[in-house]
Amino acid sequence: MARLTLENNQISDLYMDPKSFIESNKDRLLKELFELLRIPSISADPAYNEDVAKCATAIQGHMSTLGLENVEVFQTRGHPIVYGECIVDPSLPTVLVYGHYDVQPADPHELWDTDPFEPVIKKTEIHPEGAIFARGACDDKGQMFMHLKAFEILKANGDAPCNIKFMIEGEEEVGSINLEPFIKEHKEKLACDVILISDTGMIANDVPSITTGLRGLSYVEVEVTGPNRDLHSGLYGGAVANPLNILAQMIGSLHDKNGAITVEGFYDGVEIVSDEGRALMAKAPFSQEAFNDSIAIPSGQGEKGYTTPERTSIRPTLDVNGMWGGYIGEGAKTVIPSKAYAKISMRLVPGQDPDDITEKFTQHFKAIAPNSVSVKITPHHGGLPYVTHTSDPAYQSASKAYKTTFGVPALPVRSGGSIPIVALFEQVLGAKSILMGFGLDSDAIHSPNEHYGVFNYFKGIETIPYFYKYYAQK
Ligand code: BES
Ligand code: MN
Ligand code: MN
Repeated sequence: MARLTLENNQISDLYMDPKSFIESNKDRLLKELFELLRIPSISADPAYNEDVAKCATAIQGHMSTLGLENVEVFQTRGHPIVYGECIVDPSLPTVLVYGHYDVQPADPHELWDTDPFEPVIKKTEIHPEGAIFARGACDDKGQMFMHLKAFEILKANGDAPCNIKFMIEGEEEVGSINLEPFIKEHKEKLACDVILISDTGMIANDVPSITTGLRGLSYVEVEVTGPNRDLHSGLYGGAVANPLNILAQMIGSLHDKNGAITVEGFYDGVEIVSDEGRALMAKAPFSQEAFNDSIAIPSGQGEKGYTTPERTSIRPTLDVNGMWGGYIGEGAKTVIPSKAYAKISMRLVPGQDPDDITEKFTQHFKAIAPNSVSVKITPHHGGLPYVTHTSDPAYQSASKAYKTTFGVPALPVRSGGSIPIVALFEQVLGAKSILMGFGLDSDAIHSPNEHYGVFNYFKGIETIPYFYKYYAQK
């Protein structure tokens, strides 16, 4: 069999080990990432469509320079997908690397200390070696780019120890709407044994972790209509249903006094984590006090009977993300609004299905609305939850890679965030995803002053080549 041995694929020789490669290329590795960060590839806002396309072209350029084959920018109904591959031997295992080059909008701009699209390195308490401040630094340009640079290390060592395919999309932050048909249409091209993703986080720089779960998502927009027009709140106030008051009451009733969600059937089928599983989770270092301090709150709160790490990973949630209506301008305008709105997200766990939850929410919300108002519910993009197991050989390879570069084993941790395409990868491509994230919760992704540790960027580049090495050996 043509399976390459470690002797002839050279990575074992490490004549240029990842660490010394990074040491001798530090400035260039940062400069190349900075160039990508300067492109405001905001997928949600059509005003930035050209920048999104420019970013795809820049990634295509990197892939070609690295010697990847069949590099192509696939146009979609939305933003392009960039693909490139390195097939060393069809009999070797194949890893599909997924990431996204699109970013969240940068607003509110006034809360950024520096320009979101002009990266700068600044030291922080958590990042004494400096962090790169820019939109997308951590989510996900910095983390996605680590994979291209790790591939550069493999090349410098001869060739990749297994087949590698790269698929970098531009619509993750808007729900990967066009990626689903793309993967269905290109199943053969994307065929792989495992998917490798760096788009999550780890516990701390000295406590590495590998993400073993993602929550799913159901997202709805509600519109509550009362009177047929805005009314004078003196002439009509007290005698008509105010949709904003009613919406607030309805939303208030969605949690009971124990913090549990009251939507009929919401918890049906929710997978219960065993006591052993919970005990294992409790072993991961976590300080409620540090958590409170980091976001300036007096105490945590949530579903009774669960800890903060449990509430943010193995339990489902319901949150208002925005609520508006009536007069929200300067000063006071006395008005009873005709309409009230809210955007509501529900994070889901294994056993819950986004379409089913959206339906249950819709039924429940209509049922609790008083006769004085009418309710319209518009579902947005959603996604299934995902879990993987530490017994997976690819997980074991990742675990070994962390042990090699961090010197300590990585802890398996289920995350509260969502990457909806991961469950679809499993359904369509039949492959599991390994989530090797190097960000920290405090990196302010989606927020003003997003940043990514220089340590984390380099550590990712250093660790990824070992994943391939161990995975190809197994
Ligand atoms: N990379 C994040 C998801 C993430 C971050 C997972 C940190 C775990 C740890 C991703 O870009 C994201 O923001 N996902 C969205 C969902 C999407 C449908 C907009 C989310 O989780 O809100
Ligand atoms: Mn992301
Ligand atoms: Mn994101």
